[in-house]
Amino acid sequence: MSRTRVAVLISGRGSNMAALIEAAKRADYPAEIALVVSNVPDAGGLATASAAGIATTTVDHRAFGKDRAAFERALQDVLVQHRIELVCLAGFMRLLTPWFVAQWPQRMLNIHPALLPSFKGLDTHRRALEAGVKLHGATVHFVVPEMDSGPIVAQGAVPVHDQDTEAALAARVLAVEHRIYPLALRLVAEGRVSVAGNRCRIAKAAAPHTALIVPLD
Ligand code: GAR
Repeated sequence: MSRTRVAVLISGRGSNMAALIEAAKRADYPAEIALVVSNVPDAGGLATASAAGIATTTVDHRAFGKDRAAFERALQDVLVQHRIELVCLAGFMRLLTPWFVAQWPQRMLNIHPALLPSFKGLDTHRRALEAGVKLHGATVHFVVPEMDSGPIVAQGAVPVHDQDTEAALAARVLAVEHRIYPLALRLVAEGRVSVAGNRCRIAKAAAPHTALIVPLD
């Protein structure tokens, strides 16, 4: 079985990246993490990836000043050099232009810490608490030019507890992120996800909840 060559793009601690690396250690996992790219030279995730024996590189956006196109061309060059087939954004905190997105049609995933389409953008946990929602969670979706949009591959929900702080809620969501990202990447790498409009359908799903994690408590 030839495994799909994946690059994970990070900007920080890389705990989702670590979850993907861990999942890809399984012999039956259909993707391999071939490269980790950071736009931040001292991102903590780079050391984690190196320790796991994964190739890493930095494309520092600051080196390109305001020239976003040049930054993205450099990023794209690195991905092509490493023969990457699929890109996973994992806490990659740069907005990507339509040009870059167009290089990876249905070949680039993002994880967002909310149940999209609710709470796009930043500070999702604070805003979920302010809104008083009882269910919160995380979403893995294909990347399209519009931020935090695009066909949803998998979602994981968590309960919001009455006493929750932002940190407590963030930790609960992060735990479900670490489950849905490996699940979503598996489904995509197996070629089981087809996109029709804004909807993803999953072939040979054993049950309707194949791409859904719901809280038990
Ligand atoms: C994760 O919670 C991810 O969902 C979020 O950043 C965190 C990165 O953590 N992403 C975004 O907010 C994207 N807009 P990690 O580096 O430990 O994976």
